[in-house]
Amino acid sequence: MEIKVAKSAGFCFGVKKAVECVYEQIDENEKSGEKKQIYTYGPIIHNENVVNDLAGKGVKVINSEEELKEIISGIVIIRSHGVSKHIYDIIESNKLKLVDATCPFVKKIHKIVYEKSQEGMQIVIIGNDKHPEVEGIKGWSVTAPVVIEDEQEAEMFCTEKSKEICIVSQTTFNYNKFNKLVEIISKKGYNSSIVNTICNATSVRQVEAKEIAKEADAMIVVGGSNSSNTQKLFEICKKECNNTYYIQNAEDLHDVEFDDDWYVGITAGASTPNNIIEEVRTNVRIKHGKL
Ligand code: F3S
Repeated sequence: MEIKVAKSAGFCFGVKKAVECVYEQIDENEKSGEKKQIYTYGPIIHNENVVNDLAGKGVKVINSEEELKEIISGIVIIRSHGVSKHIYDIIESNKLKLVDATCPFVKKIHKIVYEKSQEGMQIVIIGNDKHPEVEGIKGWSVTAPVVIEDEQEAEMFCTEKSKEICIVSQTTFNYNKFNKLVEIISKKGYNSSIVNTICNATSVRQVEAKEIAKEADAMIVVGGSNSSNTQKLFEICKKECNNTYYIQNAEDLHDVEFDDDWYVGITAGASTPNNIIEEVRTNVRIKHGKL
């Protein structure tokens, strides 16, 4: 049996960096002997195993701005999604130690939005208004930003004709949809500067999964049951390989049978840690006496 694990399976670069950052802080904190309380502003990642592991090591999650305002000592880690400027201000005024794990690609958007809005431009964010990343991006605009998620909102968008607009995107937004919405806004004749800030980590993961699934006799997709990007990966793989399994961890492989001469592909959603992917690989091998 041949087993192929997708190179892009699991954490993207930004999330990997943020998770590692928390573990580094735990280590440093222990070594320094200071034993400061470590907090993450929001769960560092949407993965229960990781969040529980961190909780077991004493890391607490701050769930709201109000909670943050009450904290007057400790270390606050900002996750890869990033936050509004005023969250940094609260951390500073409460004299907390800041550890910024904002993904550099998100940081770049904050910088564009801050600078362009200071020049007086109207900021338009293509994305989901409720997503924490978009919340954070909005908070870097010194003028009132507008968030557009669908064609109807794009059609309805209007601002003063004299205003220049700057369009950016949520990093995980669909590229074709972004182009479509930009096209609708562009027809309105505003003087606009368009910056495509979509990160390609998601599409790279999907393209690789599709390529592997095309060749595979069985394809395993690992991820949380309510993870939308894992669901999407599963759909892509299932189209190419009928024997596609959606599992949360190695135990779910219990009843799955593989033939000895099969080529088995493995990929995983964006919030699946490497150790779970490795366990799945090992489990497939054990089932076939390859260990
Ligand atoms: Fe991940 Fe950063 Fe892209 S968090 S999805 S690498 S923007």
